[in-house]
Amino acid sequence: MKVLHIDSSILGDASVSRQLSQALIEQLKTKHSALEIEYLDLNTVNIPHLTGAILMGQDAEQTALGEKLLNQYLAADIVVIGASMYNFGLSSNLKAWIDRISVAGRTFKYTENGPVGLAGNKTAYILSSRGGVYGDNSPMDFQEGLLKAVFNFTGVTDVQVIRAEGVNMGEDIKTQAINVALAKITQI
Ligand SMILES: Cc1cc2nc3c(=O)[nH]c(=O)nc-3n(C[C@H](O)[C@H](O)[C@H](O)COP(=O)(O)O)c2cc1C
Repeated sequence: MKVLHIDSSILGDASVSRQLSQALIEQLKTKHSALEIEYLDLNTVNIPHLTGAILMGQDAEQTALGEKLLNQYLAADIVVIGASMYNFGLSSNLKAWIDRISVAGRTFKYTENGPVGLAGNKTAYILSSRGGVYGDNSPMDFQEGLLKAVFNFTGVTDVQVIRAEGVNMGEDIKTQAINVALAKITQI
């Protein structure tokens, strides 16, 4: 069973989403004996913003990096993503990753009947952390919503969100939010 574990927070040891994604990895280890875990820390692996040259395959180094990221995504049975809310969206490094794995002919294709995802047969876990409280379907949410849309578009329909929110609303609310999320993780 292959697991792709991605962290994207810029806050290092203070990051809530990193704490949650690690807890989920530990939980998965208790459930599956032979896990092959590939770890991608988007704060240390530099994925440059998509440019025209990269898109057109004119940068050999970036073509190789894109291929590596695509193959990692396609091969994974489980994707675990620590995703922070920054300015209502995702961290720009996670957006850069999305831009590399959303590739026509590889993870989706267009047909006469609309788009079809090609990267299905996997489960995605989004470990979400937010300073404020937004709930499930807020019009201000371009973080979980975008990630879910990308997973769905690439054929991944089994997407589970574990969320700690209100983490900037005081220590008590933060502790409570993290504990609720950690308790959910133990149910997986
Ligand atoms: C640059 C930056 C932008 C942020 N923007 C938002 C925001 O738009 N809405 C919000 O509720 N919290 C916002 N926050 C708070 C983060 O969502 C919160 O700290 C969360 O825990 C981040 O996840 P992390 O701890 O894994 O990095 C922001 C924090 C930073 C550092």
